[in-house]
Amino acid sequence: MKRLNIALLSGGISSEREVSLAGGDQVFEALNKNKYQITRYDPKFDLSRLVADADDIDIALIILHGPNGEDGRIQGFLDLLCVPYQGSGVLGSALAMNKTVSKQIYEQVGLPVPQYRVMKKSDDILPEDVLETIGLPLVVKPVQGGSSIGMSIVKSGEDLAPAIKTAFACDDEILFEQYIKGVEITGSVLGNENLTALPIVEIIPDEIHGFFNYIAKYTPGAAKEICPARMDEALAEKAKNFAKIAHRALCCSDYSRTDMILSGEDIFVLETNTIPGMTSTSLLPLAAKTIGIQFDQLLDRLIELCLERSGNANLK
Ligand SMILES: Nc1ncnc2c1ncn2[C@@H]1O[C@H](COP(=O)(O)OP(=O)(O)O)[C@@H](O)[C@H]1O
Ligand SMILES: [Mg+2]
Repeated sequence: MKRLNIALLSGGISSEREVSLAGGDQVFEALNKNKYQITRYDPKFDLSRLVADADDIDIALIILHGPNGEDGRIQGFLDLLCVPYQGSGVLGSALAMNKTVSKQIYEQVGLPVPQYRVMKKSDDILPEDVLETIGLPLVVKPVQGGSSIGMSIVKSGEDLAPAIKTAFACDDEILFEQYIKGVEITGSVLGNENLTALPIVEIIPDEIHGFFNYIAKYTPGAAKEICPARMDEALAEKAKNFAKIAHRALCCSDYSRTDMILSGEDIFVLETNTIPGMTSTSLLPLAAKTIGIQFDQLLDRLIELCLERSGNANLK
């Protein structure tokens, strides 16, 4: 059987470069070398080589996060090269990357979101105004970003101005969100026409990190993940359904992971990740493992889904 030529893309130029490189290493390790011939590309250096090799590539695996990797740009680039890739296309990637647009779409399809307000660099919104409409505590975050970079939880009025500055250092548009006290959960989905929701993962950041920030996300032991989440079954079903609704509403493909907060009986949707973390201990791989899908099998599945969708299933 002919081995599939896989272009494994990781690295890139976003602030999540290191996370992406680590994910790329683990994906490379896990991919079955009997089935796949793998060539690695770092978009920071290797775009010309990718163009030159395009005709020989069967599928690209994009293990990139944040702007330029998860926002539709690299997806559009691969579309022009006629190289199929796993996960969402240009539209789904771009919609999900923008937390304001995602929220507007969540609201339209009836998904509950924390109360929020948007601010552009050119707006002259007064911090007092924000405090009055959203109240404390509140969360300030860049509209496009990931891994909690540029994000702050503001507990007192005097911390608001520095938090705004930090977020604007990452983006020209920022969000103020009502802080939801509760349990962090995340819902992963896998599939195309038939969408499967994986078991919900519960995330418990340790006392020091307080919320699921960059360090808590990537320091082993700084957060505890429990799957399936310890929650009422009916609520877990609701969360799974929210993850499916979010995936469809944002026009995602193949897989996605929607972050939520469970507060009492209420579930609030925060955001949808179109290229969720892909180390063997990341959240979506953990959810898959809970139902018996090992990391290498998950990668096989993503490749199959991509080939089915792009009409190249005969390559298998
Ligand atoms: N409205 C909120 N209320 C409480 N915690 C929040 C809220 N928004 C974000 N957080 C915390 O910040 C983390 C990152 O936020 P998220 O919106 O998922 O962005 P990203 O993961 O893209 O950086 C969440 O996992 C959660 O710990
Ligand atoms: Mg998140």
